Amino acid sequence: MGQASSVHGVWSKRWTFVLAATGSAVGLGNIWKFPYIAGENGGGAFVLVYLFCIAAIGIPIMMGEVLLGRMGRQSPVNTMLSLAKTVNASCSWVLVGVSGVLAGFFILSFYSVIAGWALAYVVKAVSGSFVDVSAQQIGQEFDALLHSPSTLLFWHSLFMLMTCTVIAKGINRGLQATVYILMPLLFALMLVMLGYSMTSGNFEAGAAFLFNFDPSKLSGEALLVAMGHAFFTLSLGMGAIMVYGAYMPANESIGKMVVAVGFLDTAVALAAGLVIFPIVFANQLDPGAGPGLMFVTLPIAFGQMPAGSVFATVFFVLVVFAAWSSSISLLEPAVAWLVEHRGLSRLSAAMFSGVACWLLGLGTVISFNVASEWTLWDKTFFDLLDFLASNVMLPLGGLAMAVFVAWILPLDRVREQLQDFSEGLLALMIFILKYVAPALVLAVFARSIGVL
Ligand code: PHE
Repeated sequence: MGQASSVHGVWSKRWTFVLAATGSAVGLGNIWKFPYIAGENGGGAFVLVYLFCIAAIGIPIMMGEVLLGRMGRQSPVNTMLSLAKTVNASCSWVLVGVSGVLAGFFILSFYSVIAGWALAYVVKAVSGSFVDVSAQQIGQEFDALLHSPSTLLFWHSLFMLMTCTVIAKGINRGLQATVYILMPLLFALMLVMLGYSMTSGNFEAGAAFLFNFDPSKLSGEALLVAMGHAFFTLSLGMGAIMVYGAYMPANESIGKMVVAVGFLDTAVALAAGLVIFPIVFANQLDPGAGPGLMFVTLPIAFGQMPAGSVFATVFFVLVVFAAWSSSISLLEPAVAWLVEHRGLSRLSAAMFSGVACWLLGLGTVISFNVASEWTLWDKTFFDLLDFLASNVMLPLGGLAMAVFVAWILPLDRVREQLQDFSEGLLALMIFILKYVAPALVLAVFARSIGVL
């Protein structure tokens, strides 16, 4: 049997796991990253591969990751170590936890810079700077932001501070309280925006771009990016979901909760695409514009709609909140581990890891301006970190977790955690984790390095 509780506490309310895991999953990945990488990688074909990866790989791996967490009840590093010991497997499984902590650092270091853009846009929105300006001016304003290292640094620092503050408060007073208010608000506002783009944007062109399947546009790299994004958007493969599973009460259904999280996450991503692309096509913008896509399209819509400044403010505040509830989960595995391993208080652990992440973030800050020419394999520092963490470390981490659950853990231990699964469903899930998910992940890697 797994332990009933963890040293860090358990969620005190029934729906917290779903809300916290959804809070982790729904973030910049859905609203900022999904539309821009879909735009860069040819639209519909990319979207289809992404959806397939969510359903066939993401959801089963998420169930595996949560159940590992709930069995181990510790930080991902110690969970992997103690589970490996109890089943007499090699202690090197601890590397899954360690690489997760590292991936979390890498991701948070750039995530915080981008969340900083959203913070800067809250201020712009409040001051009405999108009203009565041309699409071109909006683009110029965004460029100006990117070209100012000190401004980027300021917002990045503020966002890191926000993240560390919640983490330091602990899981129930900090995290749980935050997600209960924010998530419902975010969903409501997405619906309002969707209503706007359906009536005012070029909805048909936007929807066609997202859903028309043109396989010729699918390069090996696009496949890898789609798979990596499935892991990124569901927060899989680095221990965020594992650590949230560690705080999940023993009597809750992992299967139902995970399906709910996967559904909500996908719904928000598709809604974001359906908000952004109609505006792109109505204003003759470039769908492949890259990371700035959301920041140059949406302000145009806000500038034209009645009470646009109000909507713009609320929208960017919510983007910040969505990013916030994700950033917490990026740091939590490291913090939980520092608390367990070094006996640090949550406050010191949060400060220590926060400062490390902030420092690494400086690389991303300058990759948009002074160091934008420093590239390796055609990628800036930001691109490289994102590529390495999202497209390599997360899928490999997820693969290792799937292998551990399906090949290493005794079936009875898995069954204990999934008591509401019929034997057939359990067998299906094990089959996917044992063969399907690993084969797909490896095939995508192989294809993208040109082996297949
Ligand atoms: N899922 C988050 C998003 O879509 C990012 C994230 C990745 C959070 C990995 C935690 C772990 O924005």
